[in-house]
Amino acid sequence: KEESSLSIIIVGASGDLARKKIFPALFALFYEDCLPENVTVFGYARSKMTDEELRNMISQTLTCRIDKRENCGDKMDEFLKRCFYHSGEYNSEEHFAQLDCKLKEKEGGRSSFRLFYLSIPPNIFVDVVRCASTSASSKNGWTRVIVEKPFGRDSESSRELTRCLKQYLAEDQIFRIDHYLGKELVENLSVLRFSNLVFEPLWSRNYIRNVQFIFSEDFGTEGRGGYFDNYGIIRDIMQNHLLQILALFAMETPVSLDAEDIRNEKVKVLRSMRLLQLEDVMVGQYKGHSKGGRTYPGYTDDPTVPNNSLTPTFAAAALFIDNARWDGVPFLMRAGKALHTKRAEIRVQFRHVPGNLFKRNFGTDLDKATNELVLRVQPDEAIYLKINNKVPGLGMRLDRSDLNLLYKARYPKEIPDAYERLLLDAIEGERRLFIRSDELDAAWSLFTPLLKELEEKKIAPELYPYGSRGPVGVHYLAAKHNVRWGDLSGED
Ligand code: BG6
Repeated sequence: KEESSLSIIIVGASGDLARKKIFPALFALFYEDCLPENVTVFGYARSKMTDEELRNMISQTLTCRIDKRENCGDKMDEFLKRCFYHSGEYNSEEHFAQLDCKLKEKEGGRSSFRLFYLSIPPNIFVDVVRCASTSASSKNGWTRVIVEKPFGRDSESSRELTRCLKQYLAEDQIFRIDHYLGKELVENLSVLRFSNLVFEPLWSRNYIRNVQFIFSEDFGTEGRGGYFDNYGIIRDIMQNHLLQILALFAMETPVSLDAEDIRNEKVKVLRSMRLLQLEDVMVGQYKGHSKGGRTYPGYTDDPTVPNNSLTPTFAAAALFIDNARWDGVPFLMRAGKALHTKRAEIRVQFRHVPGNLFKRNFGTDLDKATNELVLRVQPDEAIYLKINNKVPGLGMRLDRSDLNLLYKARYPKEIPDAYERLLLDAIEGERRLFIRSDELDAAWSLFTPLLKELEEKKIAPELYPYGSRGPVGVHYLAAKHNVRWGDLSGED
């Protein structure tokens, strides 16, 4: 019989993230028997709710994997029986002390491990951490806190947040989530690089011409305008999700797979990066558009967004890593809302084959003959490599073909959601996929001067229609660095 118990407390339990991602991820882990025997889940929020009401609410969003449908209902009931609710203010030590009593009751004298998930707006992070640590932390086991971005909105506010959190928590108790690090293909990036001889030797300026990190969503900020307008796409996606992937992509071989070794290498990459210049960035904002009898709203049509808002919903940037491996290689990022497609991918474009014997088969456009490695993070996870190949038959005609690893064909089992992996890691104390404070600081240092300049100079975003491929300026930016966007070039 286990002598310990685990309590997971979701603070902000009635919010969108909790309902859509956190409870379903916990259930998936429960179903897979990844959670300890004595596990209890507590929802904490201000609204009054009974345990039963919380269970009803979360039962709407729990699902079983396609290949695990049998006894799904029983498992759900078992899981829901372990879910409880406590209503309280976010800044009340007294209310957290009441929660502590309830937790103790469930823990029944066993040694207790407590994981708080802060699924709440950032302005109340510190209050909650103060109350949780003074009134509801474990006395005989660990207490950990998962926080989700935004971690400030620039270097200064982020440092201030870190300083405040550290009044109550040690760095090793803080788990800063970047859920992109929990995505299957992002985790696989290191495997691909470091365990395949065919890739790692090519991973440098000698063979790679440019790298592209692309994030695109086919919906706008409807319903989140209030949050989004204070942040914009650069803070929402680039400074964290895309930059984290870039750091993993570009880091040197870590000493080991230990969290500290990996994070040390990531920080080195971030610190070797050139400060972002305004001329290497372009911003856009979506405008209303009518198509096929439907009208799509513009960003500023949202009542929670000021009419004259200059907040970018789209941005592209060219970044450089000034170290020996990557000197001169443009790393391009592009992120946007309300575009024609939903997709996240990494594209690696290789250099020309020197003195290519088959040059004349490609006409004048040698760019069409370069290899490109694509890691499609979502949807339809895939890794494919564009190669030149002889079209079978007499004569010598070449074309571009894909060596294609399509996940759903090769691995039919459903891929776990990023939050499942990250929650499990936090429970197990594995910090590899969480952001260390010096990493966060380095990431902000890179973007803060640019963000300030964009705001001070009131740079107007280029408008693009909802559902389009984005503003045309994105092509000029790429062309300036002698790059063609792999996914916008007509050949995917
Ligand atoms: C979040 C951003 O971090 O990531 C959202 O705040 C964005 O704006 C979301 O929609 C995208 O996540 P995913 O996993 O759906 O690609």
